[in-house]
Amino acid sequence: MLFETGIHSSADARRLARRRLPWMVFDYIDGAAGQEHGAALSLRAMQDIRLTPRVLRNVGKRDLSVTQFGKLALRPFGISPMGMCNLAAPEADLMLAKIAREHRVPHGVSTVASTDLETLYKASGGTAWFQLYFSGDGSGTLKLLDRAREAGYDTLVLTLDVPEVGRRPRELRHGFKMPFRIGPRQFLDFAMHPGWSLASLAKGSPKLANFDGKDYVFDRTESRAAADWGYFDTLRMAWPGKLVVKGVLSADDALRLRDAGADAIQVSSHGCRQLDSAPPAILTLREIREALGSEFPLFFDSGIRSGEDIVKAYVMGADFVFLGRILLFAIAAGGIEGLRTLWSVLSQEISLTMAQLGVTTIAELKDVSHLWTPPNGS
Ligand code: FNR
Repeated sequence: MLFETGIHSSADARRLARRRLPWMVFDYIDGAAGQEHGAALSLRAMQDIRLTPRVLRNVGKRDLSVTQFGKLALRPFGISPMGMCNLAAPEADLMLAKIAREHRVPHGVSTVASTDLETLYKASGGTAWFQLYFSGDGSGTLKLLDRAREAGYDTLVLTLDVPEVGRRPRELRHGFKMPFRIGPRQFLDFAMHPGWSLASLAKGSPKLANFDGKDYVFDRTESRAAADWGYFDTLRMAWPGKLVVKGVLSADDALRLRDAGADAIQVSSHGCRQLDSAPPAILTLREIREALGSEFPLFFDSGIRSGEDIVKAYVMGADFVFLGRILLFAIAAGGIEGLRTLWSVLSQEISLTMAQLGVTTIAELKDVSHLWTPPNGS
């Protein structure tokens, strides 16, 4: 059954998704900020990290589980929050919730999800974390917070790296908008991709499901620039559960957030969708880990394309790792089977890499001695 989808790596998923998705949708998922130098550099930095294989360590039994915030996750990776996932395929949000439930891993549910936060919390079997954007004067933001708490969420992911939505030329070229609008240009694009169009548009075009337009209308491009440290303190007081701050690349910010009451920090460049000149997130991860010491919970996303990349993030200091684009590509390529296949590919890649490094648990990966450095620093 496995691999019937043709997915043997995340690159396969991306290639198949590119064929199936309208250009506008593919570029919404795949695109990055500015000239996309940052996105390329981020992948390059990940590739440049080399790991040292070890021998004779009896690695016959390997365990991929990790405990995070006191809960056992069966895989060392989870789902980063992403808006409008149902553009990849109808019910993509529910597929993500389902796999999160099966493997008991955190499922980031975006403020701008295409399925409402209550439905996704239930579908994920309580593994979902709600991701919050500050918007407008903040009053709508606090309403969402209350809704998330009432729905049962115990962990909030506050994304802070979008004071303004980044300029992503690939989206702009296609006239990409949320809520979704279909003009003549999009109509042609959809006509050229009938497989996607028939399946997706038959279900009605995806919507920003957390906003019914009565209480609070969400504008994706609305400025969030007014958020400051006072706002962080207000949110910290308003949210009794775990608070994860996503989108941090500076060690100084990380230290201040820890002191201001964040329970964890998610080092992330938003997949380089915000600042083309951002440093490779994987390199800042190590810097931030060194600044915070070994105990403070540090999560990571951005530029993960394989199980080996996941292992590298643990070696660089992560306590948990989140995936973005590649999951949507797997769904676009093969629906839930595509997602399951990629999930299994990543799990195998992690397990094989652990065997190569001579470790049997994820905890043993958190050690920079796995890094290979060229002789004489050359
Ligand atoms: C995102 N990301 C994101 N992050 C967030 O906090 N809230 C959101 O609504 C979204 N929406 C979103 C949509 C799409 C299509 C993508 C690709 C990404 C960012 C996401 O959580 C994560 O930081 C990056 O995707 C990680 O980079 P990779 O793994 O995609 O390279």
